[in-house]
Amino acid sequence: MNKVTVIGAGNVGATVAECVARKDMVGEVVLIDIKEGLSEGKALDMWESAPIHSFDTRLSGSTNDYDATAGSDICVITSGVPRKPGMSRDDLLAINAKIVRSVTESFAAKSPNAILIIVSNPLDVMTYVAYMASGFPSQRVMGMAGVLDTARYRAFIAMELGVSVRDIQALLMGGHGDTMVPLPRYTTVGGIPLTELMAADKIEAIVERTKKGGGEIVKLMGTSAWYAPGAAAAEMVEAIVKDSGRVLPCAAWCTGHYGLNDLFIGVPVRLGKNGVEEIIEVNLDDSEQALMAASAEHVRTNLAALERLQAAEQEG
Ligand code: NAI
Ligand code: 2OP
Repeated sequence: MNKVTVIGAGNVGATVAECVARKDMVGEVVLIDIKEGLSEGKALDMWESAPIHSFDTRLSGSTNDYDATAGSDICVITSGVPRKPGMSRDDLLAINAKIVRSVTESFAAKSPNAILIIVSNPLDVMTYVAYMASGFPSQRVMGMAGVLDTARYRAFIAMELGVSVRDIQALLMGGHGDTMVPLPRYTTVGGIPLTELMAADKIEAIVERTKKGGGEIVKLMGTSAWYAPGAAAAEMVEAIVKDSGRVLPCAAWCTGHYGLNDLFIGVPVRLGKNGVEEIIEVNLDDSEQALMAASAEHVRTNLAALERLQAAEQEG
């Protein structure tokens, strides 16, 4: 795989592009945005850092010209508006659905064999929008949220226990919102179950902080995060480019998995050169299954809102 496109050269998109380029694993990264000159400027600035960081991945930018993206192997979609304090991810649905639909159509026409990784919020529904707009098989469409949410969860555990983040393995499922489902039962520290090392109330506090992790950053900065989200999307790109078989939580199209049908939601996925190589089904106990069902219900509420918007658009 040689070419990665990143749509949206804002905070998250630029970070994805930089993280991918610095991994030096593809020949070319193309950034594209509607703001005149933004992606060209950021791509040039990043490319000028290549001699210092020692990477050869060529970066270029384009203002809304999808010819520049033609023949891409992977596309990360970050275009859209981020939330401001007091907003939920769901408040972005109407505006971002239009943006994600139009950029996906433009991109898919030029790169019909690419794999799509969606980042724009509300994540699970925007992944569905891109799936419909691209017409790609579900194996080649996925959303980034679980890698970020798990990273937050692992970072908080490392801080609490004073251990290296490298030794923390964790699973987190569900939609990208306050109903996400971190799974302490499937969290280990150097192979030791987290539940052996931390009191239940401490674990509960970390789970709650993780669920609100996006909002914590929005409150601090007035806009949403980009360093960890950008790194998270780049980790998914790497798993696909290297066909590594990494098992990462991604929003994937469920057809009966976990008792869920016809929606994108966070589940453990084996990633490879074809995209979603496999959705892995782990045993959930009754309470975990109930949390997963509640999270899916939340995604379905947003899908219903999307349908209403689309119906209104057709009428108007
Ligand atoms: P930003 O405002 O910094 O960047 C968005 C960029 O999209 C802007 O440069 C804008 O010009 C561009 N854009 C808008 N319409 C476009 C179009 N039609 N074609 C091409 N480019 C277009 O926002 P930021 O912080 O980068 O966030 C981007 C999105 O990612 C937001 O929806 C945010 O909520 C979401 N997000 C999702 C995360 C996740 O875990 N899934 C994590 C962080 C952010
Ligand atoms: C986050 O979790 C806003 O979804 C974004 O930071």
